[in-house]
Amino acid sequence: MNTVDRRQWLRTVGLSGSFALLGALDAMAIRYPARPLTTGMPVRLNANENPYGPSRAVREVLTATFDEACRYPFRALSSLVSMIAEKEGVSEDSVVVTGGSTEGLKAAGLLYGLNGGEIIAADPTFQALMTYAETFGAYVHRVPLNAAMEHDLEGMSRRITGRTGLIFICNPNNPTGTILASDHVRDFCTSHDGRTVIFCDEAYFDFITEPDYPSMVSLVKAGRNVIVSKTFSKVYGLAGLRVGYLIARPDIATRLKEAVMANTNILAIEAAKKALTDTDFYQYSLARNAEAKAIIYDSLDSLGIPYVRSHTNFVFFKSGWPIEELIPAMEKEQVIIGRPFPPMYDWARISTGTAEEMHVFSKALAKVLQS
Ligand SMILES: Cc1ncc(COP(=O)(O)O)c(C=O)c1O
Repeated sequence: MNTVDRRQWLRTVGLSGSFALLGALDAMAIRYPARPLTTGMPVRLNANENPYGPSRAVREVLTATFDEACRYPFRALSSLVSMIAEKEGVSEDSVVVTGGSTEGLKAAGLLYGLNGGEIIAADPTFQALMTYAETFGAYVHRVPLNAAMEHDLEGMSRRITGRTGLIFICNPNNPTGTILASDHVRDFCTSHDGRTVIFCDEAYFDFITEPDYPSMVSLVKAGRNVIVSKTFSKVYGLAGLRVGYLIARPDIATRLKEAVMANTNILAIEAAKKALTDTDFYQYSLARNAEAKAIIYDSLDSLGIPYVRSHTNFVFFKSGWPIEELIPAMEKEQVIIGRPFPPMYDWARISTGTAEEMHVFSKALAKVLQS
C-alpha cells in the first residue's frame, strides 16, 4: 500500500488522528514481524486472534519467567490486580482475574443462572456465558438482533421477569462487530440494574473507533449492578495464555471470585503485566488490524458482498452460501473461517490476519464464490 492509500484507509477506519503512525508502523514492523505463511498450512482466520502477538517484550518476559514456574502465582497475581485496578480506575477489590475472560463469563453464568435463573441475551452473540449457565439449569431468553444487527434493547427489556438473574450485553457484539449507541447502552444499564445484574462483555472494546466511546466500567465505579469483562486475548495477542478479568462492585466481585475455578498462571500473569505497559505494540496491533479490515472491506466491495462495518478484529458478511458449505470450500483454498452463527446461516465471519493472510483470503473467497 502506498502512503496515499494508507492515509485513505486510516481515514476509512477511523484512525485519522494516527497519521504519525504511518512511518512508525514501518519501523515497528521490523520489531514485530508478521509470521510468514507456512506452505501447505491453512491461514487461521476463525477465532479472532491477533497474529502479531505476543509482542517481543512479552516474549522476553515469558522466557525469563520459566524459572518462576515452580512457584504459585499469588504474589505476581496481586501486582497484576493492582495494575488493572489502576488502568480501570477502580479499587483492587473490584478486579477478578480469570483464565481468559471466558472463565469470568462462565463464573457469572453459573452464579446468576443456577437452578432456573433466567438470562437474557441477544441472538446471535458470543454464547459462552449462556451455554455454560444452561448446563446448570438456567433458562436463556435469546432476543434476535434488530435490522441494524444491533442488540434489540427494548425487546430484551420486555423479557425481564422476577426470575431474571442477568442480562448479557456483548458490546461490540460477536459475530456482527456492531456497537450500541453510547447513550443507549448506558441508559439501558442504569434503568435496569435495579432489577437484575447487567453483564457487559467488552472483549473488543479496544478496537472501537468511535471517539470517547464509554466503557461500562464507569457504571461499576458509580456502584451500579454491572459486571464488565475484558481480555488479553485480542489486542494484546495473548489468546493462548488464557488471561482476562472482570470488573465489578466489591460485593459482586467477591461472589464471582468464589465461582472461579481455574484462575490463571504465572506465565500468563507476567505476560499480561508486560503487555499493559507495551503501548507501542498496542498501537501497532490496532493499526495493523485497521489495515487488515480495510483489505477485507475492499475485497467484499469488489465482489458486491454485503457486510457489517465492524468495531472489532473480524468482519461479518453475507456470502449467500450456506455456511456449512462455505467453510469446507474455503478450507480447500487453505483458509479457515468462522463457524455457523444460527440463525444467520448464509453469513460468515472472518477474523483479521496479517496483510499477506488477507490477500490469501481475498483470492480464495473470489475463487469459491465465482465457482
Ligand atoms: C465477545 C467475546 N467475549 C469473550 C471471548 C473470550 O475470550 P477469552 O476467553 O480468550 O478472553 C471472546 C472470544 O472470542 C469473544 O468473542
